[in-house]
Amino acid sequence: MKVVIDTDPGTDDAIALVVALNSPRLDILGLTTVGGNARLSQTTRNALRILEFMGRPEVPVYPGSSRPFKGRFEYAYGFHGPGGLTVRLPLPKTKAQTGSGVDFIIEAARANRGDLTLIALGPLTNVAKALKREPLIVEWLNEIVVMGGAVDVPGNVTPHAEFNIFDDPEAARTVFGSGASIRLIGLDVCRKAGVTRADEDWFRGDSQGERLVSRILKGWLKMRGRDEAYSLCDPLAVAAAIRPELFTFARANVSVETDDSSRRGKTSAGYGMGNVMVATDVRAGEAKAFLRSMFT
Ligand code: RIB
Ligand code: CA
Repeated sequence: MKVVIDTDPGTDDAIALVVALNSPRLDILGLTTVGGNARLSQTTRNALRILEFMGRPEVPVYPGSSRPFKGRFEYAYGFHGPGGLTVRLPLPKTKAQTGSGVDFIIEAARANRGDLTLIALGPLTNVAKALKREPLIVEWLNEIVVMGGAVDVPGNVTPHAEFNIFDDPEAARTVFGSGASIRLIGLDVCRKAGVTRADEDWFRGDSQGERLVSRILKGWLKMRGRDEAYSLCDPLAVAAAIRPELFTFARANVSVETDDSSRRGKTSAGYGMGNVMVATDVRAGEAKAFLRSMFT
Protein backbone atom coordinates (compact mmCIF):
# COMPACT_ATOMS: atom_id res chain seq x y z
CA MET A 1 0.00 0.00 0.00
CA LYS A 2 1.43 3.37 -1.09
CA VAL A 3 1.05 6.04 1.57
CA VAL A 4 1.82 9.67 2.27
CA ILE A 5 1.87 10.55 5.96
CA ASP A 6 0.94 14.08 7.02
CA THR A 7 2.32 14.60 10.50
CA ASP A 8 3.24 17.00 13.32
CA PRO A 9 5.87 15.05 15.32
CA GLY A 10 5.02 14.95 18.21
CA THR A 11 5.73 11.94 20.40
CA ASP A 12 2.84 9.76 19.25
CA ASP A 13 3.52 10.75 15.66
CA ALA A 14 7.06 9.47 16.20
CA ILE A 15 5.80 6.11 17.50
CA ALA A 16 3.36 5.95 14.57
CA LEU A 17 6.24 6.61 12.15
CA VAL A 18 8.30 3.79 13.71
CA VAL A 19 5.40 1.42 13.02
CA ALA A 20 4.86 2.73 9.48
CA LEU A 21 8.57 2.64 8.59
CA ASN A 22 8.89 -0.95 9.83
CA SER A 23 5.72 -2.20 8.15
CA PRO A 24 6.37 -4.33 5.04
CA ARG A 25 2.80 -3.47 4.00
CA LEU A 26 3.49 0.26 3.60
CA ASP A 27 5.43 1.96 0.80
CA ILE A 28 5.95 5.46 2.23
CA LEU A 29 6.26 7.89 -0.70
CA GLY A 30 6.97 10.80 1.61
CA LEU A 31 6.07 12.73 4.73
CA THR A 32 4.37 16.12 4.76
CA THR A 33 4.66 18.19 7.91
CA VAL A 34 2.28 20.61 9.56
CA GLY A 35 2.41 22.78 12.64
CA GLY A 36 0.41 21.58 15.61
CA ASN A 37 2.19 19.78 18.42
CA ALA A 38 5.06 22.18 17.75
CA ARG A 39 5.97 24.91 15.27
CA LEU A 40 6.33 23.79 11.65
CA SER A 41 10.11 24.25 11.75
CA GLN A 42 10.25 21.90 14.74
CA THR A 43 7.87 19.25 13.41
CA THR A 44 9.78 19.26 10.12
CA ARG A 45 13.15 18.90 11.87
CA ASN A 46 11.69 16.17 14.09
CA ALA A 47 10.46 14.26 11.04
CA LEU A 48 13.97 14.40 9.53
CA ARG A 49 15.53 13.31 12.85
CA ILE A 50 13.15 10.35 13.22
CA LEU A 51 13.79 9.17 9.64
CA GLU A 52 17.56 9.36 10.13
CA PHE A 53 17.40 7.63 13.52
CA MET A 54 15.41 4.83 11.86
CA GLY A 55 17.93 4.57 9.02
CA ARG A 56 15.48 5.88 6.41
CA PRO A 57 16.93 9.24 5.29
CA GLU A 58 15.73 8.52 1.73
CA VAL A 59 12.09 9.21 2.66
CA PRO A 60 11.45 12.80 1.51
CA VAL A 61 9.95 15.38 3.89
CA TYR A 62 7.87 18.22 2.43
CA PRO A 63 7.01 21.10 4.81
CA GLY A 64 3.38 22.19 4.76
CA SER A 65 1.37 24.71 6.73
CA SER A 66 2.71 26.79 9.59
CA ARG A 67 -0.71 28.26 10.41
CA PRO A 68 -4.32 27.07 10.32
CA PHE A 69 -7.04 28.59 8.14
CA LYS A 70 -7.96 30.93 11.01
CA GLY A 71 -5.74 32.26 13.79
CA ARG A 72 -2.72 30.31 14.97
CA PHE A 73 -1.95 26.76 16.07
CA GLU A 74 -2.23 26.02 19.78
CA TYR A 75 1.01 24.11 20.33
CA ALA A 76 1.21 21.15 22.74
CA TYR A 77 4.67 21.54 24.31
CA GLY A 78 3.28 20.56 27.71
CA PHE A 79 2.44 17.12 26.34
CA HIS A 80 5.13 16.54 23.69
CA GLY A 81 8.07 18.36 25.24
CA PRO A 82 9.73 21.72 24.51
CA GLY A 83 10.84 20.89 20.95
CA GLY A 84 7.93 18.54 20.25
CA LEU A 85 9.74 15.37 21.35
CA THR A 86 10.57 14.09 24.83
CA VAL A 87 13.89 12.76 23.60
CA ARG A 88 16.95 14.52 22.18
CA LEU A 89 17.82 13.06 18.76
CA PRO A 90 20.89 14.04 16.73
CA LEU A 91 20.37 17.07 14.49
CA PRO A 92 19.39 15.87 11.00
CA LYS A 93 22.01 15.83 8.22
CA THR A 94 19.31 15.59 5.54
CA LYS A 95 17.28 18.62 4.51
CA ALA A 96 13.58 19.00 3.89
CA GLN A 97 12.45 19.20 0.25
CA THR A 98 11.96 22.65 -1.25
CA GLY A 99 8.53 21.72 -2.59
CA SER A 100 5.42 22.28 -0.49
CA GLY A 101 3.63 19.54 1.38
CA VAL A 102 0.30 20.54 -0.16
CA ASP A 103 1.67 20.22 -3.70
CA PHE A 104 3.28 16.89 -2.84
CA ILE A 105 -0.03 15.46 -1.61
CA ILE A 106 -1.69 16.52 -4.88
CA GLU A 107 1.12 15.25 -7.14
CA ALA A 108 1.45 11.94 -5.28
CA ALA A 109 -2.32 11.38 -5.60
CA ARG A 110 -2.24 12.34 -9.29
CA ALA A 111 0.62 9.96 -10.02
CA ASN A 112 -0.88 7.05 -8.04
CA ARG A 113 -4.60 7.31 -8.79
CA GLY A 114 -6.62 4.77 -6.82
CA ASP A 115 -3.49 3.40 -5.20
CA LEU A 116 -2.56 5.98 -2.55
CA THR A 117 -3.71 6.22 1.05
CA LEU A 118 -3.17 9.51 2.89
CA ILE A 119 -2.62 9.12 6.64
CA ALA A 120 -3.22 12.39 8.51
CA LEU A 121 -1.81 12.57 12.04
CA GLY A 122 -2.00 16.31 12.75
CA PRO A 123 -4.25 19.30 12.13
CA LEU A 124 -5.90 18.87 8.71
CA THR A 125 -4.64 22.13 7.21
CA ASN A 126 -2.44 20.57 4.50
CA VAL A 127 -5.13 18.05 3.56
CA ALA A 128 -7.82 20.73 3.30
CA LYS A 129 -5.58 22.98 1.18
CA ALA A 130 -4.85 20.07 -1.16
CA LEU A 131 -8.56 19.29 -1.51
CA LYS A 132 -9.36 22.94 -2.25
CA ARG A 133 -6.48 23.29 -4.73
CA GLU A 134 -7.28 20.03 -6.58
CA PRO A 135 -10.78 18.62 -5.79
CA LEU A 136 -10.06 15.61 -8.02
CA ILE A 137 -7.92 14.10 -5.31
CA VAL A 138 -11.20 12.98 -3.75
CA GLU A 139 -11.37 10.42 -6.57
CA TRP A 140 -7.63 9.84 -6.86
CA LEU A 141 -7.05 8.93 -3.19
CA ASN A 142 -7.95 5.41 -2.10
CA GLU A 143 -8.84 6.78 1.34
CA ILE A 144 -7.78 9.28 3.99
CA VAL A 145 -7.07 7.79 7.42
CA VAL A 146 -7.47 10.62 9.93
CA MET A 147 -6.39 10.69 13.57
CA GLY A 148 -8.76 13.21 15.06
CA GLY A 149 -12.07 13.98 16.66
CA ALA A 150 -13.94 13.07 19.80
CA VAL A 151 -17.28 11.95 18.38
CA ASP A 152 -19.09 10.33 21.32
CA VAL A 153 -16.54 11.08 24.07
CA PRO A 154 -15.18 14.29 25.64
CA GLY A 155 -12.34 16.13 23.96
CA ASN A 156 -8.76 16.49 25.17
CA VAL A 157 -8.35 20.24 24.61
CA THR A 158 -11.84 21.37 25.64
CA PRO A 159 -14.72 19.18 26.83
CA HIS A 160 -15.87 19.14 23.22
CA ALA A 161 -12.76 19.19 21.00
CA GLU A 162 -9.83 16.92 20.22
CA PHE A 163 -6.47 18.61 19.51
CA ASN A 164 -6.07 18.02 15.74
CA ILE A 165 -9.58 19.26 15.02
CA PHE A 166 -9.43 22.07 17.59
CA ASP A 167 -6.25 23.41 15.97
CA ASP A 168 -7.98 23.87 12.59
CA PRO A 169 -11.75 23.25 12.64
CA GLU A 170 -12.22 25.01 9.29
CA ALA A 171 -9.78 22.57 7.68
CA ALA A 172 -11.51 19.60 9.32
CA ARG A 173 -14.90 20.78 8.07
CA THR A 174 -13.48 21.01 4.52
CA VAL A 175 -11.99 17.50 4.73
CA PHE A 176 -15.02 15.74 6.22
CA GLY A 177 -17.32 17.60 3.83
CA SER A 178 -15.23 16.86 0.72
CA GLY A 179 -16.84 13.51 0.01
CA ALA A 180 -13.46 11.77 0.26
CA SER A 181 -13.50 8.26 1.74
CA ILE A 182 -12.32 8.78 5.30
CA ARG A 183 -11.53 6.40 8.15
CA LEU A 184 -11.67 8.43 11.39
CA ILE A 185 -9.63 7.26 14.40
CA GLY A 186 -10.57 9.53 17.30
CA LEU A 187 -10.41 9.70 21.06
CA ASP A 188 -13.38 7.32 21.03
CA VAL A 189 -10.86 4.52 20.46
CA CYS A 190 -7.42 5.86 21.28
CA ARG A 191 -8.24 6.36 24.96
CA LYS A 192 -8.87 2.58 25.04
CA ALA A 193 -5.28 1.82 24.04
CA GLY A 194 -2.84 3.37 26.52
CA VAL A 195 0.67 2.48 27.66
CA THR A 196 1.88 2.69 31.26
CA ARG A 197 5.07 1.71 33.07
CA ALA A 198 3.42 -1.68 33.63
CA ASP A 199 3.83 -2.42 29.91
CA GLU A 200 7.39 -3.49 30.54
CA ASP A 201 7.97 -4.93 27.06
CA TRP A 202 7.42 -1.42 25.60
CA PHE A 203 10.59 -0.34 27.39
CA ARG A 204 12.80 -3.21 26.20
CA GLY A 205 14.70 -4.06 23.00
CA ASP A 206 17.83 -2.97 21.17
CA SER A 207 16.50 -2.24 17.68
CA GLN A 208 16.37 1.41 16.63
CA GLY A 209 12.58 1.39 16.77
CA GLU A 210 12.45 -0.19 20.23
CA ARG A 211 15.10 2.20 21.52
CA LEU A 212 13.29 5.24 20.11
CA VAL A 213 9.87 4.27 21.48
CA SER A 214 11.30 3.39 24.89
CA ARG A 215 13.22 6.69 25.13
CA ILE A 216 10.15 8.71 24.05
CA LEU A 217 7.88 7.04 26.60
CA LYS A 218 10.45 7.26 29.43
CA GLY A 219 10.93 10.94 28.64
CA TRP A 220 7.20 11.51 28.57
CA LEU A 221 6.59 9.73 31.89
CA LYS A 222 9.47 11.68 33.49
CA MET A 223 8.16 14.99 32.13
CA ARG A 224 4.60 14.29 33.29
CA GLY A 225 5.90 13.21 36.69
CA ARG A 226 2.95 10.90 37.30
CA ASP A 227 2.05 7.43 36.16
CA GLU A 228 -0.72 8.24 33.67
CA ALA A 229 -1.47 6.17 30.60
CA TYR A 230 0.00 7.39 27.32
CA SER A 231 -2.76 7.30 24.64
CA LEU A 232 -1.62 5.71 21.38
CA CYS A 233 -3.60 8.02 19.10
CA ASP A 234 -1.42 8.38 16.01
CA PRO A 235 -0.07 4.80 16.21
CA LEU A 236 -3.68 3.54 16.14
CA ALA A 237 -4.32 5.53 12.95
CA VAL A 238 -1.41 3.73 11.28
CA ALA A 239 -2.72 0.44 12.70
CA ALA A 240 -6.13 1.21 11.17
CA ALA A 241 -4.53 1.65 7.74
CA ILE A 242 -2.70 -1.69 8.00
CA ARG A 243 -5.11 -3.78 10.11
CA PRO A 244 -8.62 -2.24 9.87
CA GLU A 245 -10.11 -5.50 11.16
CA LEU A 246 -8.88 -4.58 14.64
CA PHE A 247 -11.49 -1.82 14.71
CA THR A 248 -15.27 -1.49 14.57
CA PHE A 249 -16.43 1.24 12.17
CA ALA A 250 -19.78 2.96 11.68
CA ARG A 251 -20.60 4.93 8.53
CA ALA A 252 -21.49 8.58 9.13
CA ASN A 253 -21.48 12.13 7.96
CA VAL A 254 -19.24 14.10 10.34
CA SER A 255 -19.83 17.78 11.08
CA VAL A 256 -17.45 20.18 12.83
CA GLU A 257 -18.33 23.23 14.92
CA THR A 258 -16.41 26.24 13.60
CA ASP A 259 -18.12 29.01 15.53
CA ASP A 260 -16.18 30.84 18.25
CA SER A 261 -18.15 29.26 21.08
CA SER A 262 -16.97 26.78 23.69
CA ARG A 263 -18.01 24.07 21.21
CA ARG A 264 -15.45 25.12 18.57
CA GLY A 265 -13.79 22.01 17.14
CA LYS A 266 -16.56 19.64 18.25
CA THR A 267 -17.10 16.70 15.91
CA SER A 268 -20.58 15.18 15.60
CA ALA A 269 -21.59 12.10 13.61
CA GLY A 270 -24.86 11.55 11.78
CA TYR A 271 -24.69 7.76 11.58
CA GLY A 272 -26.21 5.68 8.79
CA MET A 273 -24.99 7.23 5.56
CA GLY A 274 -21.95 9.29 4.65
CA ASN A 275 -18.30 9.27 3.56
CA VAL A 276 -16.71 8.79 6.97
CA MET A 277 -16.14 5.44 8.67
CA VAL A 278 -15.96 6.39 12.35
CA ALA A 279 -13.99 4.00 14.56
CA THR A 280 -16.39 3.23 17.41
CA ASP A 281 -14.37 0.45 19.04
CA VAL A 282 -10.99 -1.26 18.93
CA ARG A 283 -9.64 -4.64 20.04
CA ALA A 284 -7.20 -2.75 22.24
CA GLY A 285 -5.10 -5.68 23.45
CA GLU A 286 -4.55 -6.99 19.93
CA ALA A 287 -3.91 -3.49 18.57
CA LYS A 288 -1.26 -2.80 21.24
CA ALA A 289 0.36 -6.18 20.58
CA PHE A 290 0.40 -5.42 16.84
CA LEU A 291 1.98 -2.01 17.39
CA ARG A 292 4.61 -3.45 19.74
CA SER A 293 5.43 -6.14 17.17
CA MET A 294 6.19 -3.44 14.61
CA PHE A 295 8.94 -1.71 16.59
CA THR A 296 11.58 -4.07 15.19
O1 RIB B 1 -5.36 14.39 20.11
C1 RIB B 1 -4.25 13.63 19.73
C2 RIB B 1 -3.61 14.17 18.50
O2 RIB B 1 -3.14 15.49 18.74
C3 RIB B 1 -2.36 13.38 18.07
O3 RIB B 1 -2.22 13.48 16.67
C4 RIB B 1 -1.25 14.11 18.75
O4 RIB B 1 -0.01 13.97 18.04
C5 RIB B 1 -1.72 15.53 18.68
O5 RIB B 1 -1.33 16.05 17.43
CA1 CA C 1 -0.07 14.13 15.71
